Amino acid sequence: MNRRKKVTVVGAGNVGATLAHRLVDKELADVVLVDIIEDMPQGKALDLAESAPIEGYDCRLVGANGYKETADSDIVVITSGIARKPGMSRDDLINTNKGIVKQVTEEVVKYSPNCIIIIVSNPLDAMCHVAYKVSGFPKHRVIGMAGVLDSARMSCFLAEALDVSVENINSFVLGGHGDTMVPLARYSTCAGIPIPELLPKETIDKIIDRTRNGGAEIVKLLKTGSAYYAPSAATVEMVESILKDKKKILPCATLLEGEYGISGLFIGVPVKLGANGIEKIVEINLTVEERTALQKSAAAVQELVDIIGM
Ligand code: APR
Repeated sequence: MNRRKKVTVVGAGNVGATLAHRLVDKELADVVLVDIIEDMPQGKALDLAESAPIEGYDCRLVGANGYKETADSDIVVITSGIARKPGMSRDDLINTNKGIVKQVTEEVVKYSPNCIIIIVSNPLDAMCHVAYKVSGFPKHRVIGMAGVLDSARMSCFLAEALDVSVENINSFVLGGHGDTMVPLARYSTCAGIPIPELLPKETIDKIIDRTRNGGAEIVKLLKTGSAYYAPSAATVEMVESILKDKKKILPCATLLEGEYGISGLFIGVPVKLGANGIEKIVEINLTVEERTALQKSAAAVQELVDIIGM
């Protein structure tokens, strides 16, 4: 039987609700919004459903406080958790969010044993580890959203510095989703031209630094939460590539098993995203300096994984 694709979004807060909105706006799937707050996901789902006649999307929207409604989802995006407050590092969130991601993953697996899980909750790479261990899923079905967001931030800053269309820019970011991430200017391009040909090193260094601290910059401005427009947009790009089997190469957190000299950790690298989830990990040559930076980022992720102890 043909049926529409189904995406569950766990956590109907800022990221989750904005993601649901973007998914139905693109008519990508029916959406189930799940949250522990009573009536809230139902309210947001109904509000979005009532926009459909105006916007013209034929997607079913359901809100729930349990998981029965999520059964047989193609993709489950986990955004539940507490968001970062000003002055709080991503890492401070680790223990609370570990418990939440563990509980959510157990429920998700019960109802959608064949789904692909996309993790958005922070600290991202460590939460991927939790979902991977708890779900028992093969590694190609547990994916972390970070690199698409980080490279979008870098592209935004590069387009501004070059005064060109954002569509001309392709940015390349490797590593964990934290301030040790590794934005690579020489693999980042404007209309196919490597960025170091177009901008002075000083400008590039500033942009790399701003990219690394992109999440914190928004937290500082918002004061009551963390970014959600760009994170939800980044997640949609991943969901779309999977649901439409587009096989886009996107930077995502995936379990490395020897690639880039790293084993047993979720780290952001370029992967091919298609109907089966991660269909290929793309390995590129790194300079000694870049490799060292990636190892440093992996060490930071390892520290978090040690804290969660799984
Ligand atoms: N099950 C379901 N939902 C939960 C659970 C749980 N066990 N625990 C918390 N939630 C819900 C909260 O009730 C809240 O509505 O998760 C939602 C999180 O929403 P926000 O607080 O608005 O946070 P948001 O900005 O959406 O960020 C979510 O994404 O980018 C990351 O660091 C960010 O980890 C955070 C996540």
